[in-house]
Amino acid sequence: MSWNPELYHKFQKERFAPFQDLMNLIVVREGINVLDLGCGTGELTQMVSDKLPRSRVLGLDSSDNMLEEASQKSRPGLTFELCPIEKAEGKWDLVFSNAAIQWVDNHKELIPKLTTLLNPNGQIAIQMPANHNHPTQTIMVEIAGQEPYRSALGGWQRQWPVLSIKEYAELLYECGAKEINVFEKIYPHVLQDVDAIVEWLSGTALLPYFERLPKELHNDFVADYKERLCNLYPEVPVFFPYQRIFFSARWPE
Ligand SMILES: C[S@@+](CC[C@H](N)C(=O)[O-])C[C@H]1O[C@@H](n2cnc3c(N)ncnc32)[C@H](O)[C@@H]1O
Repeated sequence: MSWNPELYHKFQKERFAPFQDLMNLIVVREGINVLDLGCGTGELTQMVSDKLPRSRVLGLDSSDNMLEEASQKSRPGLTFELCPIEKAEGKWDLVFSNAAIQWVDNHKELIPKLTTLLNPNGQIAIQMPANHNHPTQTIMVEIAGQEPYRSALGGWQRQWPVLSIKEYAELLYECGAKEINVFEKIYPHVLQDVDAIVEWLSGTALLPYFERLPKELHNDFVADYKERLCNLYPEVPVFFPYQRIFFSARWPE
């Protein structure tokens, strides 16, 4: 998928709050090995590295565009690699991920696999969007199911892999975790207008549609999406509540 670092950063202020909440879940220890899954442009990976004295932090991402920016932040103890989350290897004291694993399928397999990457006394700390039932997402799916997009997409529909908080808690428990902390939180964003929602989602949720639709249908798809959103949000500014899931767990020594 073609990630655009500049567009992604436009809503940095809104994206920073959940990152801070995730950071607050991290147990600070010195000299640990840390893996950041889906590190993007690396700002947050760098902040994790700053928070953990003498740590060795590796950020993984599958996007060349994002990694190109991230690699400019490389320094001793902070490195970046092109690698899909699904292929992560090694043994780590902290496996960390902010707003990335929602792009990986089958969390019932993924989460247990990620826990095998942990050393004894290790911690996993993950944040991901769980906004798939919000109209801004369901309308997108509805439009993709209408012509001409349905045929152009060959009937493809985005499958949302994110589970319920209860299921994450159960998975972590089944993997032997202790100190399990799983919760959902809503961030009450107020955006200037519908254009701002479209711009936000053009940098994330709309990308799989742009990737699959022929270029000549991109503008029509966005116009149809925007029209539906304008009907839904006739007033400005627009209240855009954004739901996210967090989990953290530790393993015994
Ligand atoms: C929304 S961005 C989050 C980036 C960063 N963690 C942050 O919070 O700013 C999602 C990132 O996940 C990466 N990504 C998506 N699917 C991936 C996969 N299967 N393996 C590795 N990275 C992936 C994308 O390239 C993108 O950089």
